[in-house]
Amino acid sequence: MKAVRTGASPSTLETLELVDIPEAAAPGPGEITVALKASSLNFHDFAVVSGMIPAAQGRIPMSDGAGEVIAVGSNVNEFAVGDRVVSTFFPDWLDGAPPATAFRGVPGDGIDGYAREAITAPTTWFTRAPAGYSYAEAATLTCAGLTAWRALFVDGSTKPGDIVLIQGTGGVSIFALQFAKAAGATVIATSSSAEKLNKLNALGADHLINYKEVEAWGPHALALTGGRGVDTVVEIGGPGTLDQSMLATRVGGHIALIGVLTGVAGPVQTALLMAKNLRVQGLTVGSRAQQLAMIAGIEANGIKPVISDTFPLADLADAFRHQIANKHFGKIAVAI
Ligand SMILES: NC(=O)c1ccc[n+]([C@@H]2O[C@H](COP(=O)([O-])OP(=O)(O)OC[C@H]3O[C@@H](n4cnc5c(N)ncnc54)[C@H](OP(=O)(O)O)[C@@H]3O)[C@@H](O)[C@H]2O)c1
Repeated sequence: MKAVRTGASPSTLETLELVDIPEAAAPGPGEITVALKASSLNFHDFAVVSGMIPAAQGRIPMSDGAGEVIAVGSNVNEFAVGDRVVSTFFPDWLDGAPPATAFRGVPGDGIDGYAREAITAPTTWFTRAPAGYSYAEAATLTCAGLTAWRALFVDGSTKPGDIVLIQGTGGVSIFALQFAKAAGATVIATSSSAEKLNKLNALGADHLINYKEVEAWGPHALALTGGRGVDTVVEIGGPGTLDQSMLATRVGGHIALIGVLTGVAGPVQTALLMAKNLRVQGLTVGSRAQQLAMIAGIEANGIKPVISDTFPLADLADAFRHQIANKHFGKIAVAI
């Protein structure tokens, strides 16, 4: 079968290669074989294939995978042949508190991922896909969907009347917009482009800010709330955006610290953090149990992911070039 592998360590987009690998093994006890039909791009996957995150040469990238169960081993009760399934980001984190093993066991990073045609793995590496979802839609949930869900409903308690601020129009942020609106929240959305701001408006964003034109978007967002401040910021920028996020947040509010788009370290206004009684909660995606809760929430609200582009597996490097040029809106899917 076909797979994409990194051809060097550290990896570059130019050295990604489409290769033949052995067929997936027959499933053992507690295992399923999944014919993978789709994946989707996350910034984390770009970090692996571009060498920002060191990965072994020959690593099969991509944390997200969705497909059809084509064989089940003994002692498998949760799935049957023909079921549509979606992968989990942390195969070893089933429920409860985050594990200490961090990214060592993440598909597409510490172990081989889903840029391939099939896989045999324990049932716990997958959950069912939402009813009515295409494979591409299901493959957007593993990383971006669950991260947004956890930020708003596990670490946060987003409810009707809350105000949520999202940054930019990538995968995590668009899911956060959709989830926040479904929960009855008001959403302040930022983007670097007028065209994307129009799309945010069409998706239900209540207030729009061009963060390139309005550098002090934090006080601007605060003013939009009548001086009260937002309840939750979905912080995907990191050190370059955290100051503005703190200025936008209400006293006692919550900043879900998710992203590294502006870097991995920087000065923090500790006095502002303290004076506003802010809670800054770092998070890494979520558990399998949280993924199942998200899927129930998605089905109850009829939410569908926003996919702006789809590339075939053989053109994975081009898909990443499209992503890093910020040409996408929401998710980029990969057809396998
Ligand atoms: N901690 C976790 O568990 C976790 C999980 C998922 C993702 N992440 C992180 O979250 C970040 C976003 O991931 P993603 O997969 O959603 O990325 P993505 O789909 O590639 O989204 C990138 C988008 O972010 C926006 N952006 C870039 N720089 C920005 C800035 N300075 N201020 C505001 N918006 C900015 C841009 O939107 P516009 O074009 O509209 O300006 C860009 O299109 C990444 O750093 C990723 O590593 C972390």
